[in-house]
Amino acid sequence: MKLLILLSLFFLVPGLFVTRKAAAASRPRIFVLATGGTIAGRADTPSALTAYQAGTLRIESLLATVPPLRDIANVTGETICDIDSKDMTEEIWLRLARRVNELFAEESADGVVITHGTDTLEETAYFLNLTVKSDRPVVLTGAMRPATSLSADGPLNLLDAVRTAASPDAAGKGVLIVMNGEINAARDVAKTNTLALDAFQSPDMGLLGYVNDGIPTFYRQTRRYHTAQSEFDVTRLASLPPVKILYGHAADDALFVEAAVRAGVRGLVYAGLGNGSIPQSVETALTEAAARGVIVVRASRTGSGAVVPERSPAGSPFLSAGTLSPQKARILLQLALTRTANRSEIQRMFLEY
Ligand code: SIN
Repeated sequence: MKLLILLSLFFLVPGLFVTRKAAAASRPRIFVLATGGTIAGRADTPSALTAYQAGTLRIESLLATVPPLRDIANVTGETICDIDSKDMTEEIWLRLARRVNELFAEESADGVVITHGTDTLEETAYFLNLTVKSDRPVVLTGAMRPATSLSADGPLNLLDAVRTAASPDAAGKGVLIVMNGEINAARDVAKTNTLALDAFQSPDMGLLGYVNDGIPTFYRQTRRYHTAQSEFDVTRLASLPPVKILYGHAADDALFVEAAVRAGVRGLVYAGLGNGSIPQSVETALTEAAARGVIVVRASRTGSGAVVPERSPAGSPFLSAGTLSPQKARILLQLALTRTANRSEIQRMFLEY
């Protein structure tokens, strides 16, 4: 009998070991690139939800808070930066885009997750949506409550983000944002609440899908160009062209337009009133700026709806942002200016991306 048990152990145990090893080898390889934010934030007490230091938890500790990750994917953590995302820079964007492109080009990753502060998450997501050259999933996630909070949302958001990045269904859908069980497209999503857990919404287009019980499910996808179809290449760029946003308001004047032109901007996005309307007092200054070669794009401060191109006919000196928010119109204009200064060519880009 003893001999029989010994013999079975001899044959079974290595078999189990090989099966487990094979299962591990077949899991998708997901890189988690950490940039900081509330998801890596630490407060003095578990009930503190706003008084905390963002971007303090190391990526290793962040991953350790989510043990089920290891059953879903072979996860590698890497730190890009440790910042509060209000301090995000274009230099970090360029570094991030290059790193993601490098991971895909050298076949090291099947998908990438980026942990990020929520304040500028939508901007980083849109920048990557236009500059990552791959159909493989890239998913940004963050948290509205610090990691030390009694009911931190970061761990589940991170788990859902890795599940989405590991899902074949997420391929070819552009850069995604996964938060609060919802999947949104980088182009359309916006942070719409200062503190709530469901802070991210796509006001015009709606979300792409849900992650329910850990299963990412898509209902639709964007028709606008992104990632592998994008014409923008930042591989060799050291910086981006200077473009500023001016926020329209009642009784506005030409002060900031003139200052921006003097400072040498190459583009201006005017977050206009209603359908991107520009007060007379500002329009003259913007027309003069356009005559001097500054590309002026009309966007809207309303938060939803399109700034219709009909208001920017061929003869008009201004372009239209369509449904892009002012902060996303700024990013597209910067990338457009890396390729051309031709107005109609740039307007084409606003219609396609
Ligand atoms: C940040 O954007 O880094 C702070 C706020 C947040 O992550 O929710």
